[in-house]
Amino acid sequence: MKIAFIGCGKLGLPCAEEIVKAGHEVTGYDPAYIKDDRTFKKHNGLIDLKHTIPEAVKFAKIVFVAVPTPHDPSYDGRAPTAHLAPKDFDYTIVKQVLNECNSVMNPAQMIVLISTVLPGTVRRELAPMITSTRFVYNPYLIAMGSVAWDFRNPEMIMIGTQDGSSTGDAQELVDFYSTVIESDTRYEIGTWDECECIKVFYNTFISTKIALVNMIQDVALKQGNINVDVVTQALAKSSKRIMGPQYMTAGMGDGGACHPRDNIALRYMAQELGLGYDLFDEIMFAREKQAENLAKFLVNIAQENNLPILIHGVAYKPNVPYKDGSYSLLVAHYCEQQGMWPILVDPHTHAQRGPFKAVALLAHNANITYKYINEQKQELYCYLEKGSVIVDPWRQYEDDRYKVIHYGNTRTLA
Ligand SMILES: NC(=O)c1ccc[n+]([C@@H]2O[C@H](COP(=O)([O-])OP(=O)(O)OC[C@H]3O[C@@H](n4cnc5c(N)ncnc54)[C@H](O)[C@@H]3O)[C@@H](O)[C@H]2O)c1
Repeated sequence: MKIAFIGCGKLGLPCAEEIVKAGHEVTGYDPAYIKDDRTFKKHNGLIDLKHTIPEAVKFAKIVFVAVPTPHDPSYDGRAPTAHLAPKDFDYTIVKQVLNECNSVMNPAQMIVLISTVLPGTVRRELAPMITSTRFVYNPYLIAMGSVAWDFRNPEMIMIGTQDGSSTGDAQELVDFYSTVIESDTRYEIGTWDECECIKVFYNTFISTKIALVNMIQDVALKQGNINVDVVTQALAKSSKRIMGPQYMTAGMGDGGACHPRDNIALRYMAQELGLGYDLFDEIMFAREKQAENLAKFLVNIAQENNLPILIHGVAYKPNVPYKDGSYSLLVAHYCEQQGMWPILVDPHTHAQRGPFKAVALLAHNANITYKYINEQKQELYCYLEKGSVIVDPWRQYEDDRYKVIHYGNTRTLA
C-alpha cells in the first residue's frame, strides 16, 4: 500500500520505517530534513522523502500525521510546574498540516492523526477543517527507546471515528495494521473523543501509579523500619483487587467501614510525617465532588420531571445492613443541600415496597460488586410506577417501562 508520513520525528520516522519493512511504500515530509541537500540525503533512506506536503501525499492511500503538539517549554516537568497555570498543548502545527493536506487530498484517501491532543480537540477544532477527505484519530502508546518494538507490539491500537463505528474507515485501518503489527493486537475502536481519553488517561494512570509507589518510598524514609520494596511487592502481587480489571467500572464512589476512614487517617499520617503533600486529601475531595455532581444531576432531572428522588440501595453495598461510609447517604446529603431529601429504599436498612413514582438512582449493583464470587442479578427493591426515571450509574439496567439514563455514557445522552 502507498502510505505517507507527515512529521518524521522521534515517533514518525521509526514507525514509517517499520511500515516500509513490512512491504509498503512510504513517502514522507518533514521540514527539518529539507533545510539542505546533505540533511535531505542523509534521511532519505527507507522513506522516500519529499520537499512538500502535496508531493508526499499525492499517491498515498493513508496519510499519517505525527507532527508535534508542543507544550510551553516551561511545562516539561524538569522544573516545578505544579504552581503554573494549566495549559493545553499547542495545536498550531497540526492545524497547518491538516489544512494543507485537506487542500490536496480526496475522499479515496484518509488522514490518520497520531499526534496527542486533549479530549474534545478533534471534534471541536480539527475535524471541521477536513472537508475533502476522510479523518481518523489514532494516537500511539509508544515509549522512547523502544519505538520500533512498541509499534509492532502495541498494547492496543486506538481507532477513533466520528460516531465510533467500527466499519468503514476503522476497518480499513485495521486491515492495514494487520499487515504490519503482531497478530494478537487488541483494537479499541470508539469515537474520536473516546480515543483521546484512552490515550491521555492511559498515561496519567501510569503517572498516578508512580506517584503512589514513590509516596510509599517517602513514608519508608520518614517512618523508619520499612523497605519500600517489601510493601510495593506485596501490593504488586495483589491481583484480586488492585492489579487487574477490578474496580475499573465507573459508578458509585467507595464506601464501607474501612475505605473512607483509612484515607482520612492517612491524611493525618501525611501531616505527621511531613510528606509535604497529601494525595489522600485530594482523593477524598474528588470522592465528595463526584457525589455532589451526581446529586446535582439527580436534582436537575427531578425538577424537570416534577418527581421526588429515590435512592435505591442505602447500605454501602448490596446485601449487607451496614451504612458505614455509605456513598448513597453522601449523595443523599448533597441532594438535601440542593433542597431535595430523597426517598431511601433498601431491604436491609429502609425496607419499603412502594409503589413510588420517582427519579431512582440505582446505587446498588450486586452483579458488579460480587462479580468475583459469582454472577448475581440485581432485582429492584421496590415497585416503581410507570413515568419514573431510572438513573443507573453502572450503565446496565434496561427496562422499556421507564426512561433509563446510563450515567457516564454521553453517547446516548446527546
Ligand atoms: N515520541 C513518542 O514516544 C510519542 C508517543 C506517543 C505520542 N507522541 C505524540 O506524537 C507527536 C509527535 O511526537 P514526536 O515525539 O515524534 O515529536 P518530534 O518533535 O520528535 O517530531 C515531530 C516532527 O514533526 C516535524 N514537523 C514540525 N513541523 C512540521 C510541519 N509543519 N510539517 C511536517 N512535519 C513537521 C518536526 O520537524 C519533527 O521532526 C506529538 O503529538 C507527541 O505527543 C509521541
